[in-house]
Amino acid sequence: KRLITIAIDGPAAAGKSTVAKIVAEKLSCIYIDTGAMYRALTWKALKNSVNVNNEEALIELLESTDIMLKQNSRGQLVFVDEEDVTYDIRSNEVTNNVSYVAKHPKIREEMVRRQQMLAKHRGVVMDGRDIGTHVLPNADIKIFLIASVEERAKRRYEENIKKGIHADLNELKKEIEQRDEIDSKREASPLIKAKDAIEIDTTSLSIQEVAERILLIAKDI
Ligand code: C5P
Repeated sequence: KRLITIAIDGPAAAGKSTVAKIVAEKLSCIYIDTGAMYRALTWKALKNSVNVNNEEALIELLESTDIMLKQNSRGQLVFVDEEDVTYDIRSNEVTNNVSYVAKHPKIREEMVRRQQMLAKHRGVVMDGRDIGTHVLPNADIKIFLIASVEERAKRRYEENIKKGIHADLNELKKEIEQRDEIDSKREASPLIKAKDAIEIDTTSLSIQEVAERILLIAKDI
């Protein structure tokens, strides 16, 4: 059986991970959330008071950090040095610092190396910012998901409320815009649509509809 590789990129809170999980499950592929890896390192840096602008200190930290993504029936679990950080890496503090950590070329190089290793000899659906452009440039399918910032902030707001996390719609909108700005303007593998990616605007689509579109494209491969 041929192993399919699907790259899903796009700005913050565009629904990438929810869609990627559904598609991976339907195609019996593994799902790899690369954002969780940058978040995991950010979590550890904050915990150890390592400055997120200090590339050398961060790369040293990353080299001695084990980041593991595990799938179980309830979704994806994230472990840092065997500690379950699944919830901690979604905190506001991590969210608002992760783009600074992800700016550094050496950090990206090492993360990409680990991500490519995870994808080797497997069917994968991988989501992030640079999957179609750098991590899996030969992916069978490249998807670029976009949605208006209002819609993305609203989705994140509802997600937070459901999880019992305090949320302010305007604040979320500002944070999403700021993160997109840093991710798009950085020198090293910025957030950009790959030339051969298919763009899907999810603003007025449901998660299920987006997943179905991608599955339809996968059928032709
Ligand atoms: O996908 P998520 O929003 O969890 O990603 C968190 C952050 O990690 C992004 O805002 C970006 O700074 C960084 N990231 C990245 N490259 C990826 C995935 C995430 O730079 N492939």
